[in-house]
Amino acid sequence: KIKEIDAYQIYDSRGFPTLEVEVILENGIKGYGLVPSGASTGQFEALELRDGDKEVFRGKSVFKAIENVKTLIAEALKGVSVFEQEQIDKTMIELDGTTNKSNLGANAILGVSMAVANTAANVKGVPLYEYLGNGEGHLIPLNEIQILGGGAHAAWATDIQDYLVIATGAKTYEETLEMTHNIYHAAGEVMKARGKCVGIADEGGWWPDYETNEEPFDVFLEAVEKAGYIAGKDVAISLDIAASDLFDGEKYRFRLDNKEFTPDEFCDLMIAWCEKYPIISIEDPFADTDFKSWKRFMEVCGNKVQVIGDDLFTTNIERIKEGIANELANSVLIKLNQIGSVTETIQAIKLTQSAGWLPVVSARSGETEDAFISHLAVATNAGQLKVGSFARSERMVKWNENIRIQRSLGDKATFIGGKIYDIILE
Ligand code: PGA
Ligand code: ZN
Repeated sequence: KIKEIDAYQIYDSRGFPTLEVEVILENGIKGYGLVPSGASTGQFEALELRDGDKEVFRGKSVFKAIENVKTLIAEALKGVSVFEQEQIDKTMIELDGTTNKSNLGANAILGVSMAVANTAANVKGVPLYEYLGNGEGHLIPLNEIQILGGGAHAAWATDIQDYLVIATGAKTYEETLEMTHNIYHAAGEVMKARGKCVGIADEGGWWPDYETNEEPFDVFLEAVEKAGYIAGKDVAISLDIAASDLFDGEKYRFRLDNKEFTPDEFCDLMIAWCEKYPIISIEDPFADTDFKSWKRFMEVCGNKVQVIGDDLFTTNIERIKEGIANELANSVLIKLNQIGSVTETIQAIKLTQSAGWLPVVSARSGETEDAFISHLAVATNAGQLKVGSFARSERMVKWNENIRIQRSLGDKATFIGGKIYDIILE
């Protein structure tokens, strides 16, 4: 039973404040919840409560959310069994009373929700994936790993937010990491040789210096070749366009080369890219309000490409249901802090799977040293994980954790790699 819930400010991978929650049980067992934070956030996400005083931590402190955990939430959950995850999340949602968790803050609620799950696993003495998945999680996810970072994560060095690699041909989890290692470093060498590498972006991918949004494709393909792989066979390209950031309600705009597109023209461009390059997956190719383009794109490319809604769905069950009914995508990006509780996140994954769509469990651009999402991906047999690039420990901790989970599962672990796409592609 919960005796005490504490919270305090820690710092994320960008050095911005976030909160850590500590749950303490009557028997002394503890568990923690560390809350991540996005930069290219969707307008339909649950509210991340920040204090907003520009003089204090540039407005980014989370003392109000911390206070809410220590007072209102702690009082409501005192004496409750830590195994009542659903009931605990429901209690907090009701206590908040809003649809977007804006009273208590989604960061406050999620911190407690994650800490409760970790504490419960600690009481049982089992790994988090085993607890969260009731022992049914066994699928080691295929990684989607960023090679170049742009958009809001690299001061608009490119308009496209992520150019990622998926090692579709890998036979084992270890092989996906080895292939990514080879391609990530080859890409860095290619870019440095051309004088086009500025450094690394928020999620650890190379921060490029290009004139157009297509040049990164050349680097990518050259790096794949240099690393000894065949694009379209061993590996494929994945993109996160994060297009809500490019759309002003009428037109899509590229800052890099000053181009603008009507929704129809932008849809044509996305279709053309998918025909020209070995793209297996594309996330948020359109704004979260531009349903018409999503629908048209799905009609043309939905049987060849994984079409992921991130800002489109914001891990929100009602929005995912609407997307399924209207066939807007065939995959959902899953982020705990977009919706703000462990229970709702798991429900979103199950809903996605029950529609025959693919979930992709994802980190945020502002991350912590915690690997909760690696466990979540295995627990739910989600099949895919997206954590940014192949550098910086807040990213590597998630990839590395799946090596440990695989070892802990032993014979029970399965890996199907690129075959996961058989579920949605023709
Ligand atoms: P964010 O980026 O965490 O800044 O929202 C990740 C993404 O768009 O997938
Ligand atoms: Zn995204």
